[in-house]
Amino acid sequence: MLDKITYFDNACMTLKPYQVIEAVNEYYEKYPVCGGSRSQHRLSNILGRKIEEGREAISELIGAERKEQIVFTKNTTEAVNLVAKGLGLGKGDTVLTTDKEHNSNTVPWILLRDDKGIKFDQVKTNDDGTFNLENFKESMNQSVELVSMIHTSNLDGTTTPAKEIGEIAHDYDALFLLDGAQSVPHKPVDVQDLDVDLLAFSVHKMLGPTGVGVLYGKEEVLERLTPLSAGGGSVKDSTYDSITLKDAPGKFEGGLQNYSALCGIKPAVDYLLDVGLEDIEQHEIELNRLATELLEDKVEVIGPHDPEKRSGIFNFRVKVLGCHEITVLLEEQDIITRGGMHCVHPWHRTRGELGGTRASFYLYNTEEEVKKFAQIFDDLLG
Ligand code: ALA
Repeated sequence: MLDKITYFDNACMTLKPYQVIEAVNEYYEKYPVCGGSRSQHRLSNILGRKIEEGREAISELIGAERKEQIVFTKNTTEAVNLVAKGLGLGKGDTVLTTDKEHNSNTVPWILLRDDKGIKFDQVKTNDDGTFNLENFKESMNQSVELVSMIHTSNLDGTTTPAKEIGEIAHDYDALFLLDGAQSVPHKPVDVQDLDVDLLAFSVHKMLGPTGVGVLYGKEEVLERLTPLSAGGGSVKDSTYDSITLKDAPGKFEGGLQNYSALCGIKPAVDYLLDVGLEDIEQHEIELNRLATELLEDKVEVIGPHDPEKRSGIFNFRVKVLGCHEITVLLEEQDIITRGGMHCVHPWHRTRGELGGTRASFYLYNTEEEVKKFAQIFDDLLG
């Protein structure tokens, strides 16, 4: 079925190479057991090595100093929730985001505001969707404990100046959490160069199996964080009165894990590195440039006009058709896109917008596919 389809919903979920599918199957066929230190038999040891190879691969991908700084979560959302619940923020603390965050970086802070009395504030972006550094500087103050911001937007593909944001956050002794869900799969991201304290992203958006995400953290920040879900595997010892938590990452990975998916991480990362993140980034921009050239007279593109600034995201509106209608019409021609607000409801609500139709490109998409996509609008709109 997939061979008939032009798949342009990569910001949500990417397709998987055979190497990844084989690694997942290999878990079930050859060592379908418990991992970590809980069982010490030979099958468990094989699995343990596979998990740590995945951790090592992620660590290299993002330039972490040590693989122990890589915590496996369910997805980006869970990684952000881990930070929200684990930092011990309360009354008098402010969390600052942009006004264009995905719900994963909005909802946890609203819940924390209602539960613990934190202040939740947002930096207003420019009208074209790009980040406004001056507005950010004006929003910073000593009460900001955490700056938590998107790197690349799932809505319009714009990328925030993460390095400058981090420097300013650190000038105020605030921590900096970067949401890399739409950047890590698509461009080189180096945690040491950007000097982020925390980085969250999802493996299912970077050719890997579904159900695995990552929280990277500086050692002292991971030490400060309490676990979201503790239990078997996350403690060194326990009595009825006390527990001794493991060091990171163990203390965050309580309970049996998504082992088959963890086995698929290394082949996904190897695949990305073989192709090269710089080339992937450039390829997506070229596809976006082509889509923009072919369609700019027919549709209203969301975000900056320059495709260089929109990565692989081509989100758009058409005056005479609703975003979901377009998605359905495209699907009738075997082109898969995503319509709606893309989980960025507050941004749409404040502007009275109903959403857009988003084509999000990845390394396997081709110019022919973009031309086929554009042709449909010629046929539809003349
Ligand atoms: N799943 C979200 C999207 O599709 C991030 O944009």
